[in-house]
Amino acid sequence: MSFTLKQVREAEKAIRGKMTEEPAIGMILGSGLGVLAEEIENPLAIGYDEIPHFPVSTVEGHAGKLIMGKLENVNVLVMAGRFHLYEGHDPTTVSFPIRVMKELGVKTLIVTNAAGGVNLAYEPGDLMVIQDHVNLMFRNPLVGLNNKEFGVTFPDMSSAYDPELRELAHRVAKQLGFSLREGVYAAVLGPSYETPAEIRMIRTLGGDAVGMSTVPEVIVACHAGIRVLGISCITNMAAGILPQPLSHEEVIDTANRVKDQFTALVKGILRHLS
Ligand code: 6GU
Repeated sequence: MSFTLKQVREAEKAIRGKMTEEPAIGMILGSGLGVLAEEIENPLAIGYDEIPHFPVSTVEGHAGKLIMGKLENVNVLVMAGRFHLYEGHDPTTVSFPIRVMKELGVKTLIVTNAAGGVNLAYEPGDLMVIQDHVNLMFRNPLVGLNNKEFGVTFPDMSSAYDPELRELAHRVAKQLGFSLREGVYAAVLGPSYETPAEIRMIRTLGGDAVGMSTVPEVIVACHAGIRVLGISCITNMAAGILPQPLSHEEVIDTANRVKDQFTALVKGILRHLS
């Protein structure tokens, strides 16, 4: 299924009706990383259920609302809670909010997620700048007749994750006194975690981290001409690396543990973007 510009405009209108200033920066907060939304000044929250054509997200740790306001004096539009393919949504639905962000004036998207460490040098609690991705979801939100109003039929993905923004992220982290990893995010469908054999495969294919999100939104952002910065929080090591089993609790616990660093990083980046 693909959306029409009319549907995007209906969602845009519902949001514009409530907002006071146009957001330049869009953000998607991943599992356990929603704390950043609490720092927004004069927040205006709109539930996904109030926005036409938005599905409702169901996962634990995902609040399911758009929050607008100022962060470090920058007008931001934050998605606290995102949609996943594993919830049964199709890739077009998952990335629909990006189309709406584009219509609302968003020029830069900061996408965040919780991810499993595949690179053996990584440790839980590391933050990783996404250098590039490998789409192992084998789904693409642009499938179907291309709507020329949205973008070209065959969008270039050779610098999907903006090199300048990646550089900026490293610079800001350094100023704050820590360093970031930079690596390839491999996206899988989920919702089961990978087997150890699958993780060995992903490592062979060049993946440094693995997760179940982000790629559909980034493809649509590229299509729409929105610059992207991606940050993964390595919440746990992927299957087969450590003796213990994987759990969603560990994901949330680690994300909680690094929330101060994560928040400082994103705020620092915003200061430089203003
Ligand atoms: Cl190990 N795998 C996937 N697919 N998603 C994750 C993860 C692992 N850890 C956090 N999110």
